[in-house]
Amino acid sequence: MVGLCRVFAGVLFGALCCASASVWAEHRPPVVDVASWWVSPGEQASLGVMRRHAQAGGLAWHQRVVAGSGTRRYGDVLTHWVAQGRAPMASQVIGYDIRDWARRGKLAYLDDVAREQEWDEVVPLGIQHLSKYQGHWVAAPVNAHSTNWLWANAALLRRLRASAPDTWHDLVHLLERARAAGMTPLAIGPEAWEHTLLFEAVAAGAGGAEFYRRAFLQLDAGALDGPVAAEIFRRMRLLRGYASRLNSTRSWDAATGQVRRGQALLQVQGSWVNGEFAAHRLLPGRDYACWRFPDTQGMYLFNADQFMFFKDALQHRGQDEVRRRFAGVLMDVTMQTELNIATGAAPARVDAPRHRFNRCGQQAISDLRRANLQRTLMGSIAMGNANPPAVKNALYAVVSAHFLGRLSDDEAVQRLRAVLRSAGHDGVADSTQ
Ligand code: GAL
Repeated sequence: MVGLCRVFAGVLFGALCCASASVWAEHRPPVVDVASWWVSPGEQASLGVMRRHAQAGGLAWHQRVVAGSGTRRYGDVLTHWVAQGRAPMASQVIGYDIRDWARRGKLAYLDDVAREQEWDEVVPLGIQHLSKYQGHWVAAPVNAHSTNWLWANAALLRRLRASAPDTWHDLVHLLERARAAGMTPLAIGPEAWEHTLLFEAVAAGAGGAEFYRRAFLQLDAGALDGPVAAEIFRRMRLLRGYASRLNSTRSWDAATGQVRRGQALLQVQGSWVNGEFAAHRLLPGRDYACWRFPDTQGMYLFNADQFMFFKDALQHRGQDEVRRRFAGVLMDVTMQTELNIATGAAPARVDAPRHRFNRCGQQAISDLRRANLQRTLMGSIAMGNANPPAVKNALYAVVSAHFLGRLSDDEAVQRLRAVLRSAGHDGVADSTQ
């Protein structure tokens, strides 16, 4: 438009053109500039839902998408944009990273819209704990994924005549039968967060909710004194033996693709796998099964995708109002329902109705509500919802080195104990968890 305007100005219609341009500019919808790491087909479908709702709310959509699954790969790019004065208006964020940004004074408070929409009443406390900084809402949670899931290819299950493994022993039996039938029992991607996601399910299953809370949320090294820690690493070593060739799978969604195509029986991953299958028009029951990881039934290891808003974002005109409107869109019940039918998660609002979700989504919603009441809604270690980034990265290093065969079980227990001890001494554990 600016270019066009210059041309016309040269041929005498300048004044008219520029006047109408400014009228046009005033009527242009305000832009929300949104950054995210959602790149896989299921994730892109999720962004599409968000965009549609923003546009219906009178906002123009601009997105910046960089792969990274909430890890440093995405975080580094975001940090670079902010340092260069090119902060987006809103960015996807998970877990304790929110607190880091808030502590640096970069985030806008969302208290007004939170009050209007009663966020305090509908978001589980475990999630609020991460969305707030010093009592102020600094992020809008759009979903509550959980990580302690097993995803299975239904056709291969039928071949094995297998049903849901209830206990760890049932799972080992199933993996064994898959291998005997010539199948790859377990698909897993190459990144440390993926190994840690497997670890947290194994740890919660082997130790129970109390153990998980004490060791990984309260960072109490004393929790490792019994036999559980060694048992967790023994189980991880066993699972490694059933896994697809390590490092041959490029990413979590490539591993999901192996399960989808029947090249592997199972994957332990977050509920974004449900979104991935849905994006490929697969149906639970007919094409795949979703089961809670054995012995973790009743627990909900959560990872909530949230959006934080930068105070000094690129656009300045009327920013407070635009920010308020977009945060309102993100927390709207219908938007959270439609978004999470696409993401595969439960909405972050416990009052969203269940009936439009597929079977796995409905189970996630019921599990979330129940775990919220029973204090078994606990942050995912792998996704940074349990600990600040320094502790998370130290845990990644131990778990991944062990999973890749570079540490013995005993060494891994010792290293884990050292991580918890030093985090405990630094006082980073959160007494409110
Ligand atoms: C997580 C995110 C999920 C999903 C996953 C895999 O960090 O919370 O929504 O996108 O990464 O990319």
